[in-house]
Amino acid sequence: MRMVDLIQKTRDGIELTDEEIHFIIDGYVKEDIPDYQMSAWMMAICFQGLSKKETATLTKEMMHSGDVIDLSAIQGIKVDKHSTGGVGDKTSLVLGPIVAACGVPVAKMSGRGLGHTGGTLDKLESIPGLHIMIDEDDFVKQVNDCHLAIIGQSAHLDPADKKMYALRDVTATVSCIPLIASSIMSKKLAAGSDAILLDVKYGDGAFMKTIEDAKILARTMIEIGDSLGKDTRATISNMSQPLGNAIGNSLEVREAIDTLNGHGPHDLLELCLQAGSHMLIQAKKTDSLITARKMLEDTIHSKSALRALCAMVKAQGGDDEYIRHPEMFEKAKEVIAVRSIKEGYVKELEAMALGLVSMKLGGGRQTTEDEIDHSVGLILNKKIGDYVKKDEVLVYVHTNTGLSSALKDEILNAYHLTDEFVAKPELIDEILS
Ligand code: URA
Repeated sequence: MRMVDLIQKTRDGIELTDEEIHFIIDGYVKEDIPDYQMSAWMMAICFQGLSKKETATLTKEMMHSGDVIDLSAIQGIKVDKHSTGGVGDKTSLVLGPIVAACGVPVAKMSGRGLGHTGGTLDKLESIPGLHIMIDEDDFVKQVNDCHLAIIGQSAHLDPADKKMYALRDVTATVSCIPLIASSIMSKKLAAGSDAILLDVKYGDGAFMKTIEDAKILARTMIEIGDSLGKDTRATISNMSQPLGNAIGNSLEVREAIDTLNGHGPHDLLELCLQAGSHMLIQAKKTDSLITARKMLEDTIHSKSALRALCAMVKAQGGDDEYIRHPEMFEKAKEVIAVRSIKEGYVKELEAMALGLVSMKLGGGRQTTEDEIDHSVGLILNKKIGDYVKKDEVLVYVHTNTGLSSALKDEILNAYHLTDEFVAKPELIDEILS
């Protein structure tokens, strides 16, 4: 077999066989196939797409390119959750504890942030002492003991995706549905859970800019999960504005703790309750969405979800006093209020622009080597549908480096106001299964 012939087949829209896809992924991981041929093949996929069968085979080949985690020693149905990423997305820090507190084992491998989106691992590392690299045996033991572990991806998981993603990043082949779907699902499937809940976001702060594309991506991933015998469902949620009010690592952890204490922002809580209800059904704890929601709400009222987070933090070497007393988190030197220069209803709020401001304050990475300042970020005082008076605070900026006029302008320009009434947007459009 020759790679050049397979590139040509995909370029001409001819379906590849399972053996041919195996040849490509295996050859690429073993470095028999060079980056330039892989780039050409992935670019051909961007133009021609892949069939359902090819996408499922590609995912399976990527999944088996490295370790596949064996979670069979964990009792119960393990449900994993994955978000396609957004700004202010601290869902895992709320959803993990409320679902775990209902007795569902949550064994989650998360990622770091890059660019305008934050990563769960970076957020968790704002808790002093907490470590995220845990070996497989301890991971299994922790989930059996306290139903919840959120750790970094093992170095040997899905090496094909690591190589392909790095190449996609520099060859303009990231935004391509079959490549995104196989990238996400191969990692989720290699991480070993029995069922998967995907949160596919659309809008300014998300990979998918339109709801139509988000649904196509979700359906593609559900088909891959189903073809491999895993119950896979997806929430389609709106990321046209940040989720919740906090953007930035420790600020987001504190907002998640507030939510577990019963006073978090409505949009974050609602997303967690709706996604969590499906996770309880996937784990066969109930077959009723109404009962599932009630079970999850009870974990907040009884504080059992907060205790689940404390137990996880402690098991991973972190200081759980920070969870009980979030005022202990290190604070930025200054909090600067950015005030509106106009009045009106907030019509649009550019999530990506605000994510980038947080990154530039030091809260995120421009390159994978950058260090993160966990204490900085933004607290939004106004969101879409709110009325703003002139001089009212739009955003509180938590900073260790002041606030340049350029950054202040970026914040002001992220807010679009109108005189006409604007209703608050729906967060979840649909749940697909
Ligand atoms: N997240 C992933 O893991 N892979 C992609 O291709 C896009 C988002």
